[in-house]
Amino acid sequence: TDRPRVLSGIQPTAGSFHLGNYLGAVRQWVALQETHDAFYSVVDLHAITVPQDPRELRESTRLAAAQLLGAGLDPERCTLFVQSQVPEHAQLAWVMNCLTGFGEASRMTQFKDKSARQGAESTTVGLFTYPVLQIADILLYHAQQVPVGEDQRQHIELTRDVAERFNGRFGTTFTVPQPYILKDTAKIYDLQDPSIKMSKSASSPKGIINLLDEPKVSAKKIRSAVTDTGTEIRYDPQDKPGVSNLLTIYSALTGIGVPELVDKFAGQLYGALKTQLAEVVTEWAAPFRARTLEYLADPAELDRLLAVGADKARAVAAPVLAEVYDKVGF
Ligand code: ADP
Ligand code: NA
Repeated sequence: TDRPRVLSGIQPTAGSFHLGNYLGAVRQWVALQETHDAFYSVVDLHAITVPQDPRELRESTRLAAAQLLGAGLDPERCTLFVQSQVPEHAQLAWVMNCLTGFGEASRMTQFKDKSARQGAESTTVGLFTYPVLQIADILLYHAQQVPVGEDQRQHIELTRDVAERFNGRFGTTFTVPQPYILKDTAKIYDLQDPSIKMSKSASSPKGIINLLDEPKVSAKKIRSAVTDTGTEIRYDPQDKPGVSNLLTIYSALTGIGVPELVDKFAGQLYGALKTQLAEVVTEWAAPFRARTLEYLADPAELDRLLAVGADKARAVAAPVLAEVYDKVGF
């Protein structure tokens, strides 16, 4: 195929994806499989950089894969695999560890933030070298573009630097990737506190729409979303962050532009927007949920799909690792 190669990963987290994950990332993945040669990975190696329960991790990995399939990833049109099933990731990561400067790794702001939250004693070396594993994830596939959020830009820059360093020292080997920043991406805010993003770790249960929740639970959360003083429905993230967030979600799920929505709701009250949005969300979520539960109900088939994905991934990754090993002198 002459389509550009993309690679993206998502961590297996316990429980359901939320609406922010879908609109901010997964939806783009689904779209990119039509235009790109797309590799998508559930990055379970990254998940053990913080303490994990083995049973939960195994379950979360399956759950993440089932949700990606439920959201529309098609194993015929993309390569979906679990990172730990492709041992070349860990193998290349070691080589990349030896090409990455301690100083440059120390400048990664995500590490600084995460380790500051955990404290030095419970921060692992794995968390420190997390961006180096990410370098291996990307370079193993000669990915030209890496769809990521803005917060990952620094890691892609590091990947580029290390790829160029390797190419300079050992001869051209790696494709130097570009970030594919998901700019048009809707950023979704917490329904109860629209000053923070909807987030698994930061949102209260009422502030977050979990895609696998019962429809009536999601509908209730939307109906009780905080709005703003005044009654007018208009898009104004500064003064009306709550209402604007609801409009963003509505627009993202229906494809109707925000200005059109504002016209549609002219003269109506917040309640009308919420009621209709609750319908939009639950109608969207119903088939997603049904498909995801179907995959979860047939673990053998899910495992088979993931094994096929891992084989496809290894077919690309193994020769790249072999070339690297040869070039470094193994
Ligand atoms: P969380 O913040 O809930 O822990 P993650 O950090 O695991 O979510 O994010 C997984 C993906 O979902 C990332 O690509 C991230 O950019 C995207 N994402 C997460 N929350 C949001 C949000 N509120 N709006 C848009 N995209 C989001
Ligand atoms: Na996060």
